[in-house]
Amino acid sequence: MDAKKSPLERRFFIMKAKRTLTPSKIRAFQKKILSYHRDFGRDLPWHKTRNPYRILVSEIMLQQTQVDRVVLKYQKFLKLFPRVSVLAKASLAEVFRAWQGLGYNRRALYLKQAAEIIVKKYRGKIPEGEKALKELPGVGEYTARAIETFAFGKKAVFIETNIRSVFIHFFFPKMKRIPDSKLLPLIAGTLPPKNSRRWYLALMDYGVMLKQKGGNPSRHSLSYTKQSPFKGSRRELRGKIIKLLTERSRRETFILKMLGKDVRRVLFDLEREGFVVKSGGIYHLPY
Ligand code: ADE
Repeated sequence: MDAKKSPLERRFFIMKAKRTLTPSKIRAFQKKILSYHRDFGRDLPWHKTRNPYRILVSEIMLQQTQVDRVVLKYQKFLKLFPRVSVLAKASLAEVFRAWQGLGYNRRALYLKQAAEIIVKKYRGKIPEGEKALKELPGVGEYTARAIETFAFGKKAVFIETNIRSVFIHFFFPKMKRIPDSKLLPLIAGTLPPKNSRRWYLALMDYGVMLKQKGGNPSRHSLSYTKQSPFKGSRRELRGKIIKLLTERSRRETFILKMLGKDVRRVLFDLEREGFVVKSGGIYHLPY
């Protein structure tokens, strides 16, 4: 829940949610979501596994990339790196190469670093608790709770765009600029006692259906933002540089010739952030 809220405010929202949610309303809502899932649930590869490593990979990929694109890359990635120990040992170039097309390479770097930590600190087993999960690079509150739920069957409370859509659609159909702090008590209050994993998958599928039907209820969320255009962006340049360096080391002069003088600043940032290393006028990936 919103960390900025005082405990008193939080209690107030939970009490209000309880008044909105009578037991019969909760049951009707759960029935609707679960029966939709039974009939029309999506057939996605990460919906069919509880393997914590596979769930971790899927959640990191899904953070900023559309499902269709993730489907294409997820299977290939797992063929190349079937276990966390394989990913920990791989070179960064191999990991970036497998990540091509997903964008936001920082996630690939974090995932690889997370794999190294899991091998060293947890003997190759993904930790189960939210606190330990959140200590892994690239794993925030949402991702930690999603892993707890999808891999370990825990009853965590979390929200992402599709879940947000469902709760706005059912509980705040006429409101604008709805903060997550209004939705989280409802998510907590409607969570079934058993099978939270299936429940969240069902919520996500229902949210996708609402979006496809038009309207996209998440537009009315206070957290709604659109991804900035990729063409001509700094993100695009960063991606191009990483791609060049996954092939082989490159002279700075070569990179500037290929991509223009403006990339100097981008190269500098990539180096500072640990994506690339420069030695003797040559850029390469750190390992
Ligand atoms: N389907 C769409 N987004 C998802 C996510 N973040 N986790 C699991 N399944 C999903």
